[in-house]
Amino acid sequence: MKIGLLTAGGDCPGLNAVIRGVVLKGDRIYDHEFVGIKDGFRGLVEDIVSPLPRQRVRGLSKVGGTILGTSRVSPITNGGTERVKEVMARHEIDALVTIGGEGTLTVARMFADDGIPVVGVPKTIDNDLSATDRTFGFDTAVSIATESIDRLRTTGEAHGRCMVVEVMGRNVGWIALHAGIASGAHAILIPEVPVSREQVCEWAQQAQDRGRAPVVVVAEGFTFAGDDTQVGSDRTDEFGRKLLGGIGEQITRLVEERTGIETRNTTLGHLQRGGVPSSYDRVLATRFGTAAVDAVSAKKWGTMVALQGIDIVNVNLRDATSALKTVPRDQWDEAAILFG
Ligand code: F6P
Repeated sequence: MKIGLLTAGGDCPGLNAVIRGVVLKGDRIYDHEFVGIKDGFRGLVEDIVSPLPRQRVRGLSKVGGTILGTSRVSPITNGGTERVKEVMARHEIDALVTIGGEGTLTVARMFADDGIPVVGVPKTIDNDLSATDRTFGFDTAVSIATESIDRLRTTGEAHGRCMVVEVMGRNVGWIALHAGIASGAHAILIPEVPVSREQVCEWAQQAQDRGRAPVVVVAEGFTFAGDDTQVGSDRTDEFGRKLLGGIGEQITRLVEERTGIETRNTTLGHLQRGGVPSSYDRVLATRFGTAAVDAVSAKKWGTMVALQGIDIVNVNLRDATSALKTVPRDQWDEAAILFG
């Protein structure tokens, strides 16, 4: 078979390890041929396709970013599946492996519904995809956030300041929860559990009263109880989703005004997506890649590889994209026992 690979949506550590896994196993076990599609779906509609031999994937598992490039261009609004079929036919591509998050896998599902042979590979630092216990990229993002919070704590303690740290995650609080627990934060604020302004200030004050420099970890999608609009810019990405960010700064001003504790905000932003993947993410991404080429070879179109327990399985793309995997309330409650 001739298989086209693309990475779409926000990048995340581990993408190159998937590409390597797909190409090496596909070459060695199945004798498939591969082409790389540039910049996600943009390359598919603009016809930017080039050979992807095994030599091009050498040593890639530890390399961050993606050698194929990525974008959030939607093929649905740029020529639709007819255009995709045309480009695939021109290059004699028999099947696609699309590596991406919720937006990308939703498009892959539409492709499959329209008869395009496709297998999905889930990726996102947000860890918000249903049907897989983990996505690669999440572990790296949590490690970076944890190390950053540890560092912010020492400078906070030196000055007796409250340190607010805003992390990514879009509409879910997985990164905030895990990095917050790992770093011993005094409050962890996530979109799934709105809390009041009074409560946030009380936790900061309690930590300060015990002689600690309060650390507040907030997910970018968090809203206070009673507020219904997430903080972000007016800009949207190509899938029409609002770009989030700014809640950390609001909390910083709030805590300082209401408690009098000197407070600083740090927004970790894209640092969480850059650099080398953790060993956990390299392993998961490699396993996803080799399983994806098995799924293509078995013509399991419209499916996605997923981690369930310790096993890599195949699930329907519909199951993966039907609902966001949010943080269950009891997991936040476990952490909240230690707040303040
Ligand atoms: O989905 C991954 C993610 O990093 C989110 O956590 C974040 O809200 C968004 O992408 C940022 O998007 P962009 O890279 O377009 O700024």
